[in-house]
Amino acid sequence: MKDVKISDSVVYIGVDDKTIDLFESQYVVENGISYNSYVILDEKTAVMDTADARFTDEWLLNLKTALDGRKPDYLVVQHVEPDHSGSIARFLSEYPDAQIVGNAKTFVMIKQFFHNAQLDGRCVTVKEGDTLALGSHTLQFIMAPMVHWPEVMVTYEQSEKLLFSADGFGKFGALDTEEDWACEARRYYFNIVGKYGAQVQALLKKAAALEIKMILPLHGPLLKENLEYYIGKYDIWSSYQPEDKGILIAFASIHGNTAAAARKLAAMLEEKGAEKVVVSDISRSDMAEVIEDAFRYDRTIFMSSSYDGGVFPIMEDLLCHLKAKSFRNRKIGIVENGSWAPSAGKVIKGYAEGFKDVTIAEPIVTIRSSLDPESEQALEKLAEEMCR
Ligand code: FEO
Repeated sequence: MKDVKISDSVVYIGVDDKTIDLFESQYVVENGISYNSYVILDEKTAVMDTADARFTDEWLLNLKTALDGRKPDYLVVQHVEPDHSGSIARFLSEYPDAQIVGNAKTFVMIKQFFHNAQLDGRCVTVKEGDTLALGSHTLQFIMAPMVHWPEVMVTYEQSEKLLFSADGFGKFGALDTEEDWACEARRYYFNIVGKYGAQVQALLKKAAALEIKMILPLHGPLLKENLEYYIGKYDIWSSYQPEDKGILIAFASIHGNTAAAARKLAAMLEEKGAEKVVVSDISRSDMAEVIEDAFRYDRTIFMSSSYDGGVFPIMEDLLCHLKAKSFRNRKIGIVENGSWAPSAGKVIKGYAEGFKDVTIAEPIVTIRSSLDPESEQALEKLAEEMCR
């Protein structure tokens, strides 16, 4: 276990997962992921969440070591998604005297996931603002529905001013990974929590009323200083404001002609002074990263081949993801390619018109098989419009 110091009374007992192939069966995590868990040692002891079932033995050993002969009095379940709840049933049978703390929704879900969990007479149901005294430490529960699931709550420890933030402020990457926080926290945020900006904003408002010295999330590093930076990023992300000025060109090309047009357009944009241009071949890129970039920058240009009377499937996949994540408040450019009946533009425009608060730049450019002087001129006009 990575040695992570919090305080004399609060001990990290999480695990690093470096063998997972895809997080949530969909996200590439080159540097793995951590399932953070904590134990608070006071007159009473409280365990904050568990770990994925693949790591139950390691997590229970970490817990036993931290307890040093004591027994856990409470297990606080902030989130029932299996990456955190996977060891609950084993915990309950190993420690039959421990009580489990959650809200009404927590226990419904625990019973759904773990039919044989020994819950009878052991459930402590809390609601917004309730507190649980452990001795000199007091836990205050704050409901955070849909930050990521409906049963999610976060916990504020009043004496040390710690915010146990559940999935909030999480990041991909095992704890021993040295990498930029924002890069992998942003990819995590938009792909996992992105749809629920309003709920994250509601949680940030509640958090603003608290004095917070440390943020202890369920994934990624514990945030101990410069908390305004992290909270500021979450405020931008959850309000769907672009974080940076720049243009993402997301292209789907079958034989390379749309790709060549994308590179040409990137050069035009740079020549016209675009602050930043990112070109993604979405057939070969990590989709989660393309989504991250679409939210990061204030403009996106979708360029795609036509296919079967519609749009090339990987482009539709991207557009579906963006729709699901409530993509909005951006300027959008559209370029289609088609050799006999170009149809990609209509599909892309249909999605774009469904996004909130977007401007679709004119012209929508049609390429017939490959760039020619006429379509190149239209690209030039689009580049001008995107840089305006
Ligand atoms: Fe890390 Fe929503 O679970």
